[in-house]
Amino acid sequence: MFIDTHCHILKEYYDDIEKVISESKKQKVECLISCGCATKDIEESLKLVTQFPNLYLSIGYHPDAINDYDLDYLKENLESTRVVALGEIGLDYHYVETEEEKEKQKELFERQLEIAEELNIPVVIHSREATKDTMDTLKKYNVKGIIHCFSGSYETAIEYIEMGYKLGIGGVVTFKNSKLSEVIKKLSLDDIVLETDSPYLCPDPYRGMQNSPKYIPIIAKKIAEIKETSIDEVMNKTTENALKMFPGIKL
Ligand code: NI
Repeated sequence: MFIDTHCHILKEYYDDIEKVISESKKQKVECLISCGCATKDIEESLKLVTQFPNLYLSIGYHPDAINDYDLDYLKENLESTRVVALGEIGLDYHYVETEEEKEKQKELFERQLEIAEELNIPVVIHSREATKDTMDTLKKYNVKGIIHCFSGSYETAIEYIEMGYKLGIGGVVTFKNSKLSEVIKKLSLDDIVLETDSPYLCPDPYRGMQNSPKYIPIIAKKIAEIKETSIDEVMNKTTENALKMFPGIKL
């Protein structure tokens, strides 16, 4: 069984969620962690899990939400059924124009890390063009979790791993221009979990199309090639890693 540790299962993206889930099941992707990163998405996600027993949630405010978040609401719901993580949270400097915006992102990030530490819940980290600040911030808190959509250097990977994090690997590893293969080659399978980030980042040969958790085996196959091992080994190891990281998953 595979676990897609990071996807966004929302009506906004999928007309037929039941179909997405059943197609994924046919590809052995039997457990999904859907991320709700804004209040309306969190509300919808909390309703969805009541319909689908293999759907779990990570909830938290993405750096995009700096002007619209409610941490009391978040905190109340972190202990809801099938919420297994806080995220995705972090720093995204891609579109940032002012220092003030960066400061606001850092504040939101830190306040959520405090909550994660207090409730002892794993985090899902979003970091884009902000590696140093992300790392410096994470070092201040006693938390662990997943570095979502990891695509950094080997040195960065090792630093995160030594801090207790695992790396979320998705469709990017299948892209021709990606240097991620060289990094993964040197890492242990113990340090990796699989994710699609659906509906985004569809793996090759479907790059640019709408992604789905059913494509997890494509990512696993690519990692198996890089690591010169079997898809089953990648599946078993990454599932074991995800279950260890997210003890809230009860299969
Ligand atoms: Ni995401």
